[in-house]
Amino acid sequence: HNDEGEAVVFSVPSFACQRRITLDNHNTIITGALSLLAENAELSEEDGRGVAFRRAAAVLKALPEPVTCMTQLRGLPCLGEHSLRVIKDILENGESNEVESMKQSERYKALKVLTGVFGVGAKTADRWIREGIHTLHQLRDSGHALNRAQQAGVEHYDDLNQPVSMAEADAVGEIVEKAVVSVLPGAQITLTGGFRRGKPSGHDVDFLITHPEEGREEGLMSKVVSWLESQGFLLYHKTSRNSYLESANGPARPASNMDRFERCFSIFKLAKKYHELGKDAGPEETKPAGHKPWRAVRVDLVVSPISQFAFALLGWTGSKLFERELRRWAGQEKAMSLSSHALFDNKQKRYLTATSEEEIFGHLGLEFIPPSERNA
Ligand code: GTP
Ligand code: MN
Ligand code: MN
Repeated sequence: HNDEGEAVVFSVPSFACQRRITLDNHNTIITGALSLLAENAELSEEDGRGVAFRRAAAVLKALPEPVTCMTQLRGLPCLGEHSLRVIKDILENGESNEVESMKQSERYKALKVLTGVFGVGAKTADRWIREGIHTLHQLRDSGHALNRAQQAGVEHYDDLNQPVSMAEADAVGEIVEKAVVSVLPGAQITLTGGFRRGKPSGHDVDFLITHPEEGREEGLMSKVVSWLESQGFLLYHKTSRNSYLESANGPARPASNMDRFERCFSIFKLAKKYHELGKDAGPEETKPAGHKPWRAVRVDLVVSPISQFAFALLGWTGSKLFERELRRWAGQEKAMSLSSHALFDNKQKRYLTATSEEEIFGHLGLEFIPPSERNA
């Protein structure tokens, strides 16, 4: 409130990649509600609506203090009629009717349970729901053939739906580090994803691997995976070439070295630390049934040649909305195409190289935003 006792009117730039969004959120009830609506839209394969709600939430996350009345939001970008209605409801009633009833709906609950299975996306979940499958029990009883990812997802359902802590991310990092230096001394690993942005927990742990000498990283992923497997650290893994077509507005013609870029979706078997085994952790016979000394953790590994490292680092640090907004900024404001491999200038018809994230922001004409402020 200013001197006249009027509420402050906020001002926020249009693109999320122009804002500094830390984890210090002053409007968690509103952003939580908008994020749930976004999630529900994404689960219903209405991606356009999903993005609209994500953008609205990211505007509220950027505000320096809690919103108290609607007039404060006048002139803010990305707040559509629907989002404004939800915000108004929360300011007046403390919660949004629409969001509360959505959370109670059978469809939403079933979508959450089924897409909570690793390897199950919105399409598959929707198909199962239309067959009357709403729970894991019903899925098991249905006799549906599950693919390898989904089998692992069902088997490790509880572990994979429990957030990964920073301590667990560190423990995974030590294992990955050991694997990488064993198969290629001099290779480097970097923690990316939410943990690089300072989040205290996550749904997985993301790593980017490279070698300072261009080309030495070739074939690295399969060696790392073999090492991890031989040591018994992997419950599941699927390695794939990273298709350059992943980003819709990526350059049309990838450079020839693009196919070296590899990724691996995996599930690690992570030993629990002694204190995590529970008060009753004692001799095997006295432990409660089902108490196991390890947990399953989702881990994403990506290998990048050093020439693309800065782009890969920027692209795999997130948040997802921040990345999307960076690409939208590049296309709409700069006539450039950004991907996690490269930046192409459509006017100059050439790739712009970079060896650091700072340089990429510079090419894009954006102020540098550090990872801890990319929590859009
Ligand atoms: P939590 O894991 O939920 O804590 O959050 P997170 O931000 O780490 O999310 P996630 O692990 O899903 O993704 C991390 C980053 O990787 C995000 O910036 C994503 O945009 C990026 N990412 C995920 N999948 C892909 C992909 O297929 N291709 C590319 N280029 N990037 C991806
Ligand atoms: Mn992650
Ligand atoms: Mn990930």
